[in-house]
Amino acid sequence: MPPPPINLADHEAHARTVLDDNAWAYFAGGAADELAIAAGRRAWDALRLHPRVLRPLAGGHTCVELLGRRLAHPILLAPVAFQRLAHPDGELASALAAAAQQAGFVLSTQASLPLETIAGAVGDDPERGPLWFQLYLQHDRGFNRELVRRAEAAGYEALVLTVDAPCHGARDRERRAGFRLPPGIAAVNLAGLPPRPPRPAGPGRSALFDDLLHDAPTWDDIAWLQAETRLPLILKGILHPDDARQAARLHAAAVIVSNHGGRTLDSAPPGADVLPRIADAVGATLPLLVDGGIRRGTDVLKAIALGASAVLVGRPYVFGLANAGAAGVAHVIRLLRDELEIAMALTGCATLDALPPDLLTG
Ligand code: FNR
Ligand code: LAC
Repeated sequence: MPPPPINLADHEAHARTVLDDNAWAYFAGGAADELAIAAGRRAWDALRLHPRVLRPLAGGHTCVELLGRRLAHPILLAPVAFQRLAHPDGELASALAAAAQQAGFVLSTQASLPLETIAGAVGDDPERGPLWFQLYLQHDRGFNRELVRRAEAAGYEALVLTVDAPCHGARDRERRAGFRLPPGIAAVNLAGLPPRPPRPAGPGRSALFDDLLHDAPTWDDIAWLQAETRLPLILKGILHPDDARQAARLHAAAVIVSNHGGRTLDSAPPGADVLPRIADAVGATLPLLVDGGIRRGTDVLKAIALGASAVLVGRPYVFGLANAGAAGVAHVIRLLRDELEIAMALTGCATLDALPPDLLTG
């Protein structure tokens, strides 16, 4: 028996022994040389927290306000596709653990269980964190409309449109492992999507530019989507202040500063690096979330100090899922929450809403 995991790195190490090579390549891997994954970790590590002492801490808490709701803590579970590849209970276990730990949960368009099953299981318990649906726009507008209707009807509280993945990154690790979905695991919420109409090769004769990218969303699709839904629209995968300004102009409800956990553009900057500039540009107008490489409570505190209202974690909870199903996911969230409280106490911060401006600079 290995010793029980006491931090997120332990969960990752144990998950490596549980997952087969196929699933490991998918969950742990990123794009190309995985520079963006490594940089994402280093960016959090490089920030210093400057503690203040002898401050009153009694009655402190980790609550934050987000989109009109008061959350017990600022941790959400990021959309991660195909979670039944990690554990037979898949997204259901993750969503239930999130609800039990008052964390937000974002279900991927490419979830391996029906979106209605997940929403039905967590119900409308007022103690749970937010339940959002991540949207990858498909090539068929009627299908997109129906998917949005289903998410609304099931009770999802916001749509998270992922904008940083018009195509897959160059997934070297997946290709080396010969990654494929095992039989019985599929993007079930995309069942019934009509096939993409064939397109004649264009002058560039690029399968990517002449074919796939015809259907990639553009800024024009934002207005279309907003007209289709009453749900707040959050854009995930923004790294440039001008894109954040554009999102604000189009009345996005929030922006997730993210490089997709290093899975799309390798060499993209880490969220931690660009968050301050984006906060300068739009932080007064709309809430910002950040993800990528968050593994410690100190990382969560750093993210809030840089201007985020909340953070998302991706791989760590999937590793918890692989290790112990819902209990493993709940454990990962609990570890992060406890570490966040310790980090707050040791920096002299009783709450997250008024962090000292020099917490990171001293
Ligand atoms: C993802 N991510 C992702 N994002 C999204 O918008 N839709 C999706 O379906 C997926 N699927 C997905 C699968 C896997 C295996 C991973 C690891 C990631 C990206 C995810 O939401 C998030 O941005 C990153 O995972 C955050 O980085 P960390 O916490 O994994 O370092
Ligand atoms: C990924 C896609 C599903 O990162 O977003 O694998």
